[in-house]
Amino acid sequence: MNPRLITASNLVAVLDLEPHVEGGFFRRTYQADHRDMLETEGGQRFLMTSIYYLLTAESPVGQFHFNQSDILHYFHLGDAIEYSLILADGSLQTLVMGSDVLAGQHLQLHVPGGIWKASRLLNGENGFGLISEAVSPGFDFADMEIGNRRKLTTQYPQHRALIEMLTRDED
Ligand code: GUN
Repeated sequence: MNPRLITASNLVAVLDLEPHVEGGFFRRTYQADHRDMLETEGGQRFLMTSIYYLLTAESPVGQFHFNQSDILHYFHLGDAIEYSLILADGSLQTLVMGSDVLAGQHLQLHVPGGIWKASRLLNGENGFGLISEAVSPGFDFADMEIGNRRKLTTQYPQHRALIEMLTRDED
């Protein structure tokens, strides 16, 4: 075996990632603690935070969740990742982050606050996809809601199949 081959498990180890509640693995790499905090409706937040975020063949889905903050996503390594966004008007936007820019894959993705987002690792030769996210105002669990399958399918029945694939069955 090639000892230099990047795999999901050696990325988790070398980047010191831990499981994320949405699925996948993450580590916060930055918070703007050298600056004044921002006052938001939900309370004080860092001006910006950043994480690594990894999807793997064993944990291939970042479940639907809602965030108040704007999030910039930057693709780094591995297989492509499909993003599903349900906008405030209920319309669905789907796009793929990955390195194949000639095929229309995106190296950067801006997701404004106030919409539902899910991500899914696409089949590829690596078995992982690694991105970073920069979040402003900085991430806080109070600004985030994990999608409840029943609630989301009631609100967006036109996206039922997608929501069932990209939420947990908790009811
Ligand atoms: N999603 C985007 N940024 C963050 C973060 O800093 N922490 C957690 N848990 N999730 C995030």
